[in-house]
Amino acid sequence: MIEKCEMLSFVENGDERGHLVVVEGKRDIPFEIKRVFYIYGSDRDVVRGRHANYHSEFVLINVAGTSKVRVDDGRQQKVFDLDRPHIGIYLPRMVWKDMYEFSKDSVLLCLSSEHYDNAEYIRDYDEYIRVMEQYENNMEKNQKSSQAD
Ligand code: TYD
Repeated sequence: MIEKCEMLSFVENGDERGHLVVVEGKRDIPFEIKRVFYIYGSDRDVVRGRHANYHSEFVLINVAGTSKVRVDDGRQQKVFDLDRPHIGIYLPRMVWKDMYEFSKDSVLLCLSSEHYDNAEYIRDYDEYIRVMEQYENNMEKNQKSSQAD
């Protein structure tokens, strides 16, 4: 699961006028974009996120400033640095994520595959672990039954 989280690098269309970065759904990122939101004004000691989503996939880009993203699939954790406006991190559904160490000038752009639905957020880490264990048990059962067929 965690190996599906990956850094994406977008083309910087730069000339003497400055830079322009394009992010198109299903072209530069793996999903159609249904939702855009951005986070700014978070202090350095703030931790945001702290949730997993049943359905939403995300791409996070620090279009200004820097932050870190810690991802966790219940088995492994990995930390990614967002420190340039032309790189992003792709987060699949069902990964636990924390965003933290925001620089003062951080503007974190978040692109999502789904409209907002609070019901698809898991905000309790223990519940997340239970859901992931159940999910993995089901996967194992399905594998065993397909081998038996
Ligand atoms: P929250 O999920 O706590 O943000 P973060 O992921 O950064 O920790 O969201 C903060 C508030 O904004 C909360 O009241 C829900 C609301 N919200 C929306 O209405 N739509 C959205 O798409 C998002 C991401 C949040």
